[in-house]
Amino acid sequence: MRIAVVYTSTTGFTQKYAMWIAEALEAECYKLKDMKNDDFEKYDFFVYGGSLHAIGINGLKEFKERIKELKNTKWTVFAVGATPVKDDVVPLLIKENLTLEERENIKLFYFRGGFDYDALKIKDKIMMKLLKLKIKMKPEKDRTPDEKGMINVYDQRTDFSQKKSIDGIVAYIRSL
Ligand SMILES: Cc1cc2nc3c(=O)[nH]c(=O)nc-3n(C[C@H](O)[C@H](O)[C@H](O)COP(=O)(O)O)c2cc1C
Repeated sequence: MRIAVVYTSTTGFTQKYAMWIAEALEAECYKLKDMKNDDFEKYDFFVYGGSLHAIGINGLKEFKERIKELKNTKWTVFAVGATPVKDDVVPLLIKENLTLEERENIKLFYFRGGFDYDALKIKDKIMMKLLKLKIKMKPEKDRTPDEKGMINVYDQRTDFSQKKSIDGIVAYIRSL
């Protein structure tokens, strides 16, 4: 199986996971935006990774668009976010990011990345400031654990990424 790991990352966390997975599978690793149409033709299996922005997986729509004409191509997807890994995260991400048909045969994995405010683009910095303000306006007792966590990590660079998190996705791809 000719495998490529393709990713979209804004501050480097998804890139780190993509490189770990590519290394473990001895696969090529590409940034989605650097991939030429000819590059897609060389592979029959793709691992797509993108970071979470308001529950959506960055770049996934574009990735799907770019592989839709390819024949006999299979893929799996991973998302990287700041939220801790919990049982309800993957079902929610599947619901928000995969069509009913895709849910039948595409597996989705979630890994915890981190947060790096200083490395964000201006648009994302503004969004995060607004989000923080919105959370701060809520009485403390009404804030969800995720919201409390966000307020805590917002100001400093945090990195929760762990190489061993990729074991599941690597084992899954090797089993195909
Ligand atoms: C505008 C914005 C929205 C975000 N939304 C989510 C989210 O819904 N869930 C989550 O877990 N993390 C969210 N994050 C955090 C990023 O997904 C997280 O920092 C991730 O590790 C970034 O990976 P990257 O550096 O590869 O882009 C958000 C970050 C930004 C800037």
